[in-house]
Amino acid sequence: MAQKKELTKKEIIEKIVSKKEFSDLPRKDVEMVFDHFDREEFLDEEKIKLSRDLLRKMYTAFVSGKLLNIKDKSPEWFLKKHISTKERVGTYEEVYSRCLEGLFPAHVKKGNISIYDLGSGINGFSYDEFLGSGFEVDYFGFEAVGQLVDLQNSWFKKESKSATCVKGSLFDLEEVKEFLSESFYLKEGYSQKKGKRVKVVFLFKTLDSLEMLKRNYSKDLLKEVFKLVDRVVISFATKSLVSKKKFFAERLWLRKFLDENFKIVDEFEAGIEKYIVVEK
Ligand SMILES: C[S@@+](CC[C@H](N)C(=O)[O-])C[C@H]1O[C@@H](n2cnc3c(N)ncnc32)[C@H](O)[C@@H]1O
Repeated sequence: MAQKKELTKKEIIEKIVSKKEFSDLPRKDVEMVFDHFDREEFLDEEKIKLSRDLLRKMYTAFVSGKLLNIKDKSPEWFLKKHISTKERVGTYEEVYSRCLEGLFPAHVKKGNISIYDLGSGINGFSYDEFLGSGFEVDYFGFEAVGQLVDLQNSWFKKESKSATCVKGSLFDLEEVKEFLSESFYLKEGYSQKKGKRVKVVFLFKTLDSLEMLKRNYSKDLLKEVFKLVDRVVISFATKSLVSKKKFFAERLWLRKFLDENFKIVDEFEAGIEKYIVVEK
């Protein structure tokens, strides 16, 4: 009887990414997920299935298939096609005003703010929600799913927004540091504006995805990010994004880490999301 040929790692990775939803992820992330299941006890088919299941949980479970085919629709249409942003529609005004509150002394009437949205999904489509904040806002998204990056960039370009989205992996600390650096800002064609520029990072509902593969990685990421920015806003879903079941976990490990290393300046719930505003 002919023996079934074992596939090479490269062939397995090719099979994993042959599904459209995984076809434009950073290759390193796909490999990391595959390595997690590359154990003797699993057959090749099982490795492929387990890798796809975890990739889906980390990157694409929130995305409506319709988003993977570019369409000319309104920002709100896009926001409603991703579970994370869909739930935020209607609360944006309150959320952004609390996230940006107190960044400048009261006498500064028009401050410059750069938002760095890590694991942005399609949150860039909420750009117009910043317009009422009274600040000059540049928006930079960082996201692993290439199709979502392209979608936002074509809208930013068409609408001449002061915004850019970059495809990358949050597991690559060097890439993240470069994204938050002054050289990235200047390279993208943004010039030093008059007055102080304040840098704010959003980590909305993203740390859970990272922890699925690398426990405690969020702490390494936050330590590096804080060296380069003024404020970080972290959020968590208070109900499961997919099943809508209420979570009881308070993520005490993160609270303890934030309390010990940084200063929590505000905390609030809006919709089914809890936000923690943190400074150095
Ligand atoms: C639950 S969604 C939240 C999206 C967005 N922050 C929001 O709240 O609207 C998590 C996002 O993080 C992205 N993500 C997860 N792990 C990532 C990684 N290692 N590098 C870059 N993006 C990642 C996923 O692709 C997904 O778009």
